[in-house]
Amino acid sequence: MNLLVTAGPTREFFDSVRFISNPSSGKMGYCIAAEAARRKHVVTLVSGPVALAEPENVLVVPVVSAQEMLDEVLSRLEHCDAIIMTAAVCDYRPIARLDRKLQKKNQSRTLELEPTEDILARLGVIRPRPILIGFAMEDHDHHAHAEAKLRRKRCDAIVLNDLANVGGDDGTIEVLRADRGWSAASTGTKTELASVVVSLAEELVQSRKK
Ligand code: CTP
Repeated sequence: MNLLVTAGPTREFFDSVRFISNPSSGKMGYCIAAEAARRKHVVTLVSGPVALAEPENVLVVPVVSAQEMLDEVLSRLEHCDAIIMTAAVCDYRPIARLDRKLQKKNQSRTLELEPTEDILARLGVIRPRPILIGFAMEDHDHHAHAEAKLRRKRCDAIVLNDLANVGGDDGTIEVLRADRGWSAASTGTKTELASVVVSLAEELVQSRKK
Protein backbone atom coordinates (compact mmCIF):
# COMPACT_ATOMS: atom_id res chain seq x y z
CA MET A 1 0.00 0.00 0.00
CA ASN A 2 0.87 3.68 -0.23
CA LEU A 3 1.11 4.90 3.33
CA LEU A 4 1.49 8.43 4.68
CA VAL A 5 2.60 8.86 8.29
CA THR A 6 2.80 12.14 10.18
CA ALA A 7 5.12 12.42 13.16
CA GLY A 8 6.65 14.72 15.70
CA PRO A 9 5.51 18.05 17.08
CA THR A 10 4.77 21.20 15.13
CA ARG A 11 6.28 24.57 15.98
CA GLU A 12 4.27 27.76 15.92
CA PHE A 13 6.52 30.82 15.92
CA PHE A 14 5.64 34.20 17.43
CA ASP A 15 8.88 36.01 16.56
CA SER A 16 11.99 35.25 14.50
CA VAL A 17 13.41 32.77 17.04
CA ARG A 18 10.69 31.71 19.52
CA PHE A 19 7.84 29.28 19.20
CA ILE A 20 5.26 27.25 21.11
CA SER A 21 5.42 23.48 20.74
CA ASN A 22 5.20 20.24 22.75
CA PRO A 23 7.59 17.46 23.82
CA SER A 24 6.61 14.86 21.18
CA SER A 25 9.75 12.91 20.22
CA GLY A 26 8.32 11.53 16.97
CA LYS A 27 9.54 8.03 17.88
CA MET A 28 6.22 6.25 17.35
CA GLY A 29 5.69 7.73 13.89
CA TYR A 30 9.28 6.97 12.84
CA CYS A 31 8.94 3.36 14.08
CA ILE A 32 5.68 2.98 12.14
CA ALA A 33 7.26 4.37 8.96
CA ALA A 34 10.30 2.08 9.37
CA GLU A 35 8.15 -1.00 9.99
CA ALA A 36 5.90 -0.26 7.00
CA ALA A 37 8.97 0.20 4.76
CA ARG A 38 10.37 -3.15 6.02
CA ARG A 39 7.09 -4.71 4.86
CA LYS A 40 7.73 -3.17 1.40
CA HIS A 41 4.98 -0.55 1.55
CA VAL A 42 5.61 2.81 -0.13
CA VAL A 43 5.98 5.20 2.78
CA THR A 44 5.99 8.99 3.06
CA LEU A 45 6.75 10.49 6.46
CA VAL A 46 5.65 14.10 6.96
CA SER A 47 7.64 15.07 9.99
CA GLY A 48 7.80 18.01 12.35
CA PRO A 49 11.19 18.89 13.87
CA VAL A 50 12.66 15.84 15.65
CA ALA A 51 16.11 14.51 16.56
CA LEU A 52 15.77 11.12 14.85
CA ALA A 53 17.56 9.45 11.96
CA GLU A 54 15.55 9.10 8.75
CA PRO A 55 14.19 5.55 8.41
CA GLU A 56 15.53 3.57 5.45
CA ASN A 57 13.47 3.50 2.25
CA VAL A 58 11.08 6.19 3.47
CA LEU A 59 10.49 9.55 1.79
CA VAL A 60 10.84 12.09 4.61
CA VAL A 61 9.12 15.46 4.10
CA PRO A 62 10.18 17.92 6.82
CA VAL A 63 7.68 20.53 7.97
CA VAL A 64 7.61 23.01 10.83
CA SER A 65 4.09 24.35 11.43
CA ALA A 66 0.61 22.81 11.55
CA GLN A 67 -0.28 24.71 8.38
CA GLU A 68 2.75 23.27 6.52
CA MET A 69 1.83 19.78 7.71
CA LEU A 70 -1.75 20.24 6.49
CA ASP A 71 -0.56 21.52 3.08
CA GLU A 72 1.88 18.61 2.61
CA VAL A 73 -0.70 16.00 3.61
CA LEU A 74 -3.39 17.47 1.34
CA SER A 75 -0.99 17.61 -1.62
CA ARG A 76 -0.24 13.87 -1.25
CA LEU A 77 -3.76 12.62 -0.55
CA GLU A 78 -4.56 11.35 -4.01
CA HIS A 79 -1.85 8.68 -3.90
CA CYS A 80 -2.53 7.37 -0.38
CA ASP A 81 -4.27 4.16 0.67
CA ALA A 82 -3.91 4.99 4.37
CA ILE A 83 -2.81 7.87 6.58
CA ILE A 84 -1.55 7.36 10.13
CA MET A 85 -1.56 10.61 12.10
CA THR A 86 0.86 10.22 14.99
CA ALA A 87 1.90 13.89 14.89
CA ALA A 88 1.34 16.02 17.97
CA VAL A 89 -0.01 18.94 15.98
CA CYS A 90 -0.21 22.18 17.98
CA ASP A 91 -3.86 23.06 18.52
CA TYR A 92 -3.07 26.80 18.68
CA ARG A 93 -0.69 29.20 17.00
CA PRO A 94 0.19 32.82 17.78
CA ILE A 95 -2.01 35.16 15.74
CA ALA A 96 1.09 36.89 14.36
CA ARG A 97 4.77 36.17 13.81
CA LEU A 98 7.10 39.14 14.22
CA ASP A 99 9.92 39.06 11.68
CA ARG A 100 12.36 40.27 14.36
CA LYS A 101 13.21 39.08 17.84
CA LEU A 102 10.85 40.38 20.49
CA GLN A 103 12.86 42.50 22.93
CA LYS A 104 12.64 41.87 26.66
CA LYS A 105 10.59 44.22 28.84
CA ASN A 106 10.28 43.92 32.57
CA GLN A 107 6.52 43.46 32.53
CA SER A 108 4.01 40.76 31.78
CA ARG A 109 3.01 40.03 28.20
CA THR A 110 0.00 38.37 26.62
CA LEU A 111 0.43 36.08 23.65
CA GLU A 112 -2.75 35.86 21.61
CA LEU A 113 -3.41 32.46 20.04
CA GLU A 114 -5.78 31.22 17.38
CA PRO A 115 -6.74 27.60 16.64
CA THR A 116 -4.86 25.70 13.95
CA GLU A 117 -6.85 23.57 11.57
CA ASP A 118 -7.49 20.00 12.73
CA ILE A 119 -5.79 18.00 9.96
CA LEU A 120 -7.43 14.68 10.79
CA ALA A 121 -10.91 16.23 11.02
CA ARG A 122 -10.35 17.93 7.67
CA LEU A 123 -9.34 14.61 6.07
CA GLY A 124 -12.32 12.89 7.70
CA VAL A 125 -14.87 14.75 5.56
CA ILE A 126 -13.09 14.37 2.20
CA ARG A 127 -14.67 11.81 -0.18
CA PRO A 128 -13.24 9.58 -1.45
CA ARG A 129 -10.54 9.47 1.19
CA PRO A 130 -7.78 7.10 2.33
CA ILE A 131 -8.16 4.93 5.45
CA LEU A 132 -7.56 7.25 8.42
CA ILE A 133 -5.93 6.20 11.66
CA GLY A 134 -5.66 8.84 14.37
CA PHE A 135 -3.83 8.82 17.67
CA ALA A 136 -5.35 10.00 20.92
CA MET A 137 -3.04 11.14 23.68
CA GLU A 138 -4.98 11.15 26.93
CA ASP A 139 -4.25 11.38 30.64
CA HIS A 140 -7.79 10.89 31.98
CA ASP A 141 -11.14 9.43 30.80
CA HIS A 142 -9.10 7.66 28.11
CA HIS A 143 -11.82 5.58 26.46
CA ALA A 144 -14.49 8.27 26.46
CA HIS A 145 -12.13 10.83 24.93
CA ALA A 146 -10.85 8.40 22.29
CA GLU A 147 -14.44 7.45 21.35
CA ALA A 148 -15.36 11.14 21.04
CA LYS A 149 -12.30 11.77 18.83
CA LEU A 150 -13.16 8.85 16.54
CA ARG A 151 -16.64 10.29 15.99
CA ARG A 152 -15.60 13.93 15.76
CA LYS A 153 -12.74 13.32 13.32
CA ARG A 154 -14.63 10.60 11.39
CA CYS A 155 -11.63 8.29 11.15
CA ASP A 156 -11.53 4.51 10.75
CA ALA A 157 -9.58 3.83 13.92
CA ILE A 158 -8.02 5.60 16.89
CA VAL A 159 -4.89 4.39 18.63
CA LEU A 160 -5.06 5.32 22.28
CA ASN A 161 -1.68 6.26 23.62
CA ASP A 162 -1.10 7.04 27.29
CA LEU A 163 0.64 10.31 28.10
CA ALA A 164 3.15 8.19 30.05
CA ASN A 165 4.44 6.88 26.67
CA VAL A 166 5.75 10.30 25.57
CA GLY A 167 9.46 10.28 24.81
CA GLY A 168 9.99 6.70 26.03
CA ASP A 169 11.06 3.66 24.00
CA ASP A 170 8.13 1.48 25.00
CA GLY A 171 4.52 1.77 26.12
CA THR A 172 0.97 0.50 25.87
CA ILE A 173 -1.61 1.23 23.18
CA GLU A 174 -5.24 0.28 22.69
CA VAL A 175 -7.01 0.28 19.34
CA LEU A 176 -10.57 1.50 18.75
CA ARG A 177 -11.96 0.59 15.33
CA ALA A 178 -15.07 2.31 13.99
CA ASP A 179 -16.36 -1.06 12.73
CA ARG A 180 -15.39 -3.30 15.67
CA GLY A 181 -14.93 -1.26 18.85
CA TRP A 182 -12.04 -1.79 21.26
CA SER A 183 -9.44 -4.53 21.07
CA ALA A 184 -7.13 -5.71 23.86
CA ALA A 185 -4.23 -3.49 24.89
CA SER A 186 -0.75 -4.12 23.43
CA THR A 187 2.38 -3.47 25.47
CA GLY A 188 5.91 -3.47 24.09
CA THR A 189 8.71 -1.46 22.55
CA LYS A 190 7.69 1.26 20.11
CA THR A 191 8.90 -1.04 17.31
CA GLU A 192 6.54 -3.78 18.54
CA LEU A 193 3.68 -1.31 18.90
CA ALA A 194 4.45 0.04 15.41
CA SER A 195 3.99 -3.46 14.06
CA VAL A 196 0.48 -3.58 15.61
CA VAL A 197 -0.40 -0.24 13.99
CA VAL A 198 0.95 -1.20 10.54
CA SER A 199 -1.03 -4.47 10.68
CA LEU A 200 -4.13 -2.45 11.58
CA ALA A 201 -3.60 -0.21 8.52
CA GLU A 202 -3.10 -3.28 6.30
CA GLU A 203 -6.31 -4.89 7.60
CA LEU A 204 -8.37 -1.73 7.17
CA VAL A 205 -7.12 -1.21 3.60
CA GLN A 206 -7.81 -4.87 2.78
CA SER A 207 -11.30 -4.85 4.30
CA ARG A 208 -12.21 -1.74 2.31
CA LYS A 209 -11.17 -3.49 -0.93
CA LYS A 210 -13.50 -6.45 -0.26
N1 CTP B 1 -4.64 16.23 15.09
C1 CTP B 1 -4.66 16.85 13.86
N2 CTP B 1 -4.65 18.21 13.78
C2 CTP B 1 -4.68 18.98 14.89
C3 CTP B 1 -4.66 18.34 16.18
C4 CTP B 1 -4.65 16.97 16.24
O1 CTP B 1 -4.65 16.15 12.84
N3 CTP B 1 -4.68 20.30 14.77
C5 CTP B 1 -4.65 14.76 15.13
C6 CTP B 1 -3.44 14.13 15.81
O2 CTP B 1 -2.40 13.88 14.88
C7 CTP B 1 -4.02 12.84 16.36
C8 CTP B 1 -5.46 13.20 16.66
O3 CTP B 1 -5.75 14.36 15.89
O4 CTP B 1 -4.02 11.80 15.40
C9 CTP B 1 -5.78 13.47 18.10
O5 CTP B 1 -4.89 14.40 18.64
P1 CTP B 1 -4.96 14.86 20.17
O6 CTP B 1 -3.90 15.87 20.42
O7 CTP B 1 -5.05 13.64 21.06
O8 CTP B 1 -6.40 15.50 20.22
P2 CTP B 1 -6.92 16.95 19.96
O9 CTP B 1 -7.90 16.91 18.83
O10 CTP B 1 -5.79 17.92 19.84
O11 CTP B 1 -7.78 17.22 21.27
P3 CTP B 1 -7.26 17.50 22.79
O12 CTP B 1 -5.93 18.19 22.67
O13 CTP B 1 -8.35 18.35 23.35
O14 CTP B 1 -7.19 16.15 23.44
